[in-house]
Amino acid sequence: MVKIALLGSGLIGQFYAQALMGGRSRDSIQVVYSRTETRAEALASKWGIPMTTTSMLDAIRHPDVELVVVAVPNHMHEEAVVASAKAGKGVLCTKPLGRNAAEAWRMLQAVEQANVFHGYLEDLVYPPKTLKALDTVRAGALGKILWVRSRETHPGPHSAWFWDRAMAGGGAVVDMGCHCIEIARNFIGKHVRPLEVVCWGATQVHPIDSEDHAIGLVRYENGAIGQFEVSWTFRGGMDLRDEISGTEGTIWLNHWLRTGIEVFTATGSNHYVAEKSESNTGWLFPVGDEATALGYTDMFEDMLNAYERGTPPRESFYDGYIVNAIVDASYRSMQSKRWEAIELEQWRGESETTIESGPAMLDSDHEVIKREVLPDGSTRWIVRNRTTGEIKNLSE
Ligand SMILES: NC(=O)c1ccc[n+]([C@@H]2O[C@H](COP(=O)([O-])OP(=O)(O)OC[C@H]3O[C@@H](n4cnc5c(N)ncnc54)[C@H](O)[C@@H]3O)[C@@H](O)[C@H]2O)c1
Repeated sequence: MVKIALLGSGLIGQFYAQALMGGRSRDSIQVVYSRTETRAEALASKWGIPMTTTSMLDAIRHPDVELVVVAVPNHMHEEAVVASAKAGKGVLCTKPLGRNAAEAWRMLQAVEQANVFHGYLEDLVYPPKTLKALDTVRAGALGKILWVRSRETHPGPHSAWFWDRAMAGGGAVVDMGCHCIEIARNFIGKHVRPLEVVCWGATQVHPIDSEDHAIGLVRYENGAIGQFEVSWTFRGGMDLRDEISGTEGTIWLNHWLRTGIEVFTATGSNHYVAEKSESNTGWLFPVGDEATALGYTDMFEDMLNAYERGTPPRESFYDGYIVNAIVDASYRSMQSKRWEAIELEQWRGESETTIESGPAMLDSDHEVIKREVLPDGSTRWIVRNRTTGEIKNLSE
């Protein structure tokens, strides 16, 4: 049994408690911290947590606690992580790791110097559909991954602090682009270095200093492209979709608005439908088990198994740091309107990998550009002569 302190009782604290304590779990949240005693007590009584506190440090230092789960707003992550490392406790931190790469780097240094276990709680690389897709890609079914498109859009966050640039570190890019960026890294391969970013972002709707809509491209050293599309202006609920495109195949994932259960109700009811659902009448797209569909269940299984075995989890603070560095470059690009280099204190992956491969040959003179069976049943080859460069059709 792993003995846990949960810092935060907001939206993500509730999901984490459900994932950790909702089933017949072997693990136990010993203490929950919240700013207000009533919120802490409400969460504690729902999940049978024995202790509550309004002091973050008391929760971290409590002798019954070995592992700290950080689920407080972005501006408090560094303080929580550094205090956990100083107390010699393992620490799991929600996304984004820092408000920027400098903060994330200091957090990585703190846990590595203290030699404590650390995990980056990027749930959206753990939904069962995504784990299956990752296995499929790693088994080679899609060939070499060329392009990953990841989209997270909804009508905007539920708490005031997200909209405050100083507390959050930015807008939709740092809040949701962080998910999309790490999803793309997982499919492209975390050993492949991300080199540069071009990003458009704007404040289209809400009266805030941050961007509420952005689209970016991340170019990797092997030539692969990660594309992120994020919005706090999207209407119609929460749209979470990923597309993975390789030399030999494609995967499309839709996590939220088409989940396999579609309900029509003319009268509606007051019941909860799904996170960020905007309506409870008409056609609805509920989610059977949100904690699992969003990856929280498999994420904590991986994290706590790794903690007990003393092995690294799938997502570490180094991954969180790389994501923050890509987010920082995206913000620079939004200002400069140019490709911006991703600046890293340290690269721990590989270098000079390439997705380019030699062309297939039709015969010793002709490289195959494309083969297609046409509606009349004939096969057409489009080929390029190696010597002359001439491109022509050949039909069978
Ligand atoms: N999919 C995900 O992994 C996911 C989803 C949502 C939020 N998050 C992350 O979780 C963290 C918390 O987000 P949330 O949605 O639970 O937020 P929330 O506003 O719903 O809850 C925030 C919690 O932090 C506490 N808190 C302490 N000091 C605070 C302060 N100065 N201002 C506001 N709250 C304070 C609140 O009491 C509350 O318990 C953020 O870092 C966010 O990015 C992750």
